[in-house]
Amino acid sequence: MEKQTVPYEKIVFVCTNERASDGPPCCAGRGAVNIHASLKARVKALGLGKVLRVSKSGCQNRCTLGPNIMVFPDNVWYSGVTEEDLDTIVGEITKDVVTE
Ligand code: FES
Repeated sequence: MEKQTVPYEKIVFVCTNERASDGPPCCAGRGAVNIHASLKARVKALGLGKVLRVSKSGCQNRCTLGPNIMVFPDNVWYSGVTEEDLDTIVGEITKDVVTE
C-alpha cells in the first residue's frame, strides 16, 4: 500500500448513476452525464484541472432531487442542477482555488 497527499484543492463529485428507464429516478436520466462532461471541460478550459478534480460518482442518495453534485472540502451539495446552472457553480467552486 502507498499513501500520498491528494494533489487537488477540491474534488467535485457529479452523480452519474443510471437506472433502468422504468425504474426509480436517477441522475443520468436527468442529464447528469452531459453535466459532468460540461463541468469537467469548463474546469479544464480555466486551467484548473490540476487543482480541481471533477469526478463521476455513484448514487448520492438524493435521487429524486438530481442531478446532484457534491463539492469537497466546501461541503456543498447542489441538486436539481441544469446546464444553465454551471456558470454559477463554476464561479462558486473556483473563486477560492489557488493556482501556482
Ligand atoms: S441517482 Fe444520483 S443521487 Fe441517486
